[in-house]
Amino acid sequence: MRCDQTPAWKALTDHATQTSGFDLRQAFVADADRASRLSQTAPHVFADLSKNHTNAATEVLLIELARQTGLAAHRDAMFLGEPINNTEGRAVMHWLLRQPEGSLEGDLAASLKLVHDTLKPMLAYAEQIRADAQITDVVNIGIGGSDLGPQMAVLGLQDFMIPGKRLHFVSNVDGHELSAVLSGLKAENTLFLIASKTFTTIETMTNARSALAWFKAQGGGDVSRHFAALTTNVSAAAQMGITTTFGFWDWVGGRYSVWSAIGLPVAIAIGALGFKDLLAGAHAMDQHFQSAPFEANLPVRLGLLDVWYRNFLQYSSRSIAPYHSALRRLPAYLQQLEMESNGKRVDRNGRALPYGTSPVLWGEPGTNGQHAYFQMLHQGTDVVPVEFIAVKKPTHNLDDHHELLLANVIAQAQALMLGQADEGGHKHFPGNRPSTFLLLDELTPASFGALVALQEHRVFVSGSVWGINSFDQWGVELGKVLAKDIHARMASGDTVGLDASSAALLQRVRPG
Ligand code: F6P
Repeated sequence: MRCDQTPAWKALTDHATQTSGFDLRQAFVADADRASRLSQTAPHVFADLSKNHTNAATEVLLIELARQTGLAAHRDAMFLGEPINNTEGRAVMHWLLRQPEGSLEGDLAASLKLVHDTLKPMLAYAEQIRADAQITDVVNIGIGGSDLGPQMAVLGLQDFMIPGKRLHFVSNVDGHELSAVLSGLKAENTLFLIASKTFTTIETMTNARSALAWFKAQGGGDVSRHFAALTTNVSAAAQMGITTTFGFWDWVGGRYSVWSAIGLPVAIAIGALGFKDLLAGAHAMDQHFQSAPFEANLPVRLGLLDVWYRNFLQYSSRSIAPYHSALRRLPAYLQQLEMESNGKRVDRNGRALPYGTSPVLWGEPGTNGQHAYFQMLHQGTDVVPVEFIAVKKPTHNLDDHHELLLANVIAQAQALMLGQADEGGHKHFPGNRPSTFLLLDELTPASFGALVALQEHRVFVSGSVWGINSFDQWGVELGKVLAKDIHARMASGDTVGLDASSAALLQRVRPG
């Protein structure tokens, strides 16, 4: 049943009206156990949900909504390999990439064997590159899921990075990016990884061709040693002359692909054992998502909270505040994960939806954000739920820095909630501003894997309740088609049939 037609939706609408004066400060006074009751442990992640605009009744009703919209059956269909990506007729099995070898029976056992038969040579190759002193620079050329996942993981796990290798990421078709990277490189010391699920993405193909041309112009001869393709389309890579390839399958969505061959830069950075730990951490979260009762299931609780905020309290964005500088690309990664997955205006059958779906995600690492846009979070006119992410143990010995960092993250959540009364107005903080606090003990490959899988599954939960297909992305196609058309007109200057604004801009940017 569509979510807005369920009895739970109606009950939640009434509940939102009844609790419209909800105040976090009073909620803590009224319920001495609130902090512990609204906390949740999951593999590698502790979550304090208590500073959110919910009470026990809200949670009961949200779980009822999950039941009435068939969340459990939908989740189970994903883990059974059913083609839940209905508009592309594909299964959704990124979780299979982190499933231990030989742990499944039946139809999925063959796919799992394929996964491990592919993972082993990929990890062996990663070890080979790690041991190859001649290769000092690895350049990943990819965009979207073929860039954001590996990039944020390599940065996030920089403390586990092999010394003596530099990893570069080139995504933009803007030649400034590629030329800046190439200018510091030597062909004989460089490995290029061409990462593209489809091997048709114009930005990546353009960058790959330019990298190949640069390599040859620098006197590079052995393409098979200096180029590898990470793709589901091995034949297209071969046509470009790239014969070292690591494959994956159409049932891995681009934004869910860091666990596949697309993760090769991560495996080179942290090694085969580190990559296995990453997979193991994510698998632990998969098991939690599959087996914990909804009431104690962290991805379910977070995904339902997202629905509550978006549809019943009309909070249309979420700010991500990782208080760890290595997690600085996490907000960009989560933007794609949430907004490309759930930025949909129709249900799975293509019918227009009368309610909001994906929130806008944005953020920067703390404490930097505090000195930039946190003003708006504290005193702006919109309420923006914040998701703080902190790590208890640092890997440096500047203890006073880490104490200050952790003090700040707790203080920000506190300040948002408590506010401050002031008659004069300008110094008045309304408070009662919601936040979630995710805490990792340490930032390791395993905890990082769990954190990312948690985010994948919470996006699944809200997308499932909304009744949308979270695994396609038709919305990016139109821009690609029009760019091709405009590109063709650049040389000739032909503006026939263009709208007046685009025609004038085209004339303006043409050389000469
Ligand atoms: O344009 C959107 C998109 O298809 C993303 O979904 C994807 O992550 C990205 O482009 C890159 O695609 P590919 O890996 O096929 O080059």
